[in-house]
Amino acid sequence: MILDEIKTNIHGIIGREIHFFEIVSSTNTIALELAEKAPEGTVFLADCQEKGRGRLGRTWISPSGVNIYMSIILRPQIRPKDSSLITIMSAVACAIALRNVTGFKVTTKWPNDLMIDNKKVGGILTELKTKQQKITTAIVGIGINVNIDIHDFPEDMKQRATSLKNESGVSHPREPIVAEILNEIDRWYKTMTPLEKESIIRAWKNLTSTLGKKVVVITPHETLTGTAESIDIDGMLILRLPSGKSKRINSGDLKVLQ
Ligand code: BTN
Repeated sequence: MILDEIKTNIHGIIGREIHFFEIVSSTNTIALELAEKAPEGTVFLADCQEKGRGRLGRTWISPSGVNIYMSIILRPQIRPKDSSLITIMSAVACAIALRNVTGFKVTTKWPNDLMIDNKKVGGILTELKTKQQKITTAIVGIGINVNIDIHDFPEDMKQRATSLKNESGVSHPREPIVAEILNEIDRWYKTMTPLEKESIIRAWKNLTSTLGKKVVVITPHETLTGTAESIDIDGMLILRLPSGKSKRINSGDLKVLQ
């Protein structure tokens, strides 16, 4: 990865400071450790992760030199219970950035997935540091499958995951994608205010492949089937249950059934 090619194309505060590692346990773990000392917008970027982490305790496949693994330090003025919005905002920024650079119709799947044709091309892991019911730091971890060969995924993931190279047949330089993602996060993060957050939700709805579909949602407490009706102003999923009632869900694992 050529850091200068990223830095010269950064327009805002996100990515003004970038710490690059050839190899790291997990950029989210490092970011959590160094959060207090890092100014807002600091990015931890790695070429390889030995212990890449996905949501719900999963492993994030992170081989060297092919993909994007980065974590961004944010300090949003929102309550921890509204933190879904951070992931939603980041997913909007990533999907738009990937569309801008590659031309692929990248879509968002609630809550944190980036998809091409129903296959996952990237994911977001948001982790919080809180004090007295306030967010002191939010770490937005972003993983994008750029040039990984689909054969390097474990067997059970081959049907569900993809990479930009797998879709186009050619390698994609990672630097312009990193810069565009950071610039888009800079742009969308600024709208994470009570008055403007509606624009994030609207953008997410325009980018998503989830809404209107029959889905199964697995939360830590229960497994629910229903129709993914909408997301609310804080990024929570509104699920229409077979009984006709609707339920707001903060986070979970969603599978589209049709
Ligand atoms: C998911 O879809 O489960 C979220 C994946 C997030 C992966 C990224 S890669 C950079 C950052 N460091 C990690 O260990 N995880 C996130």
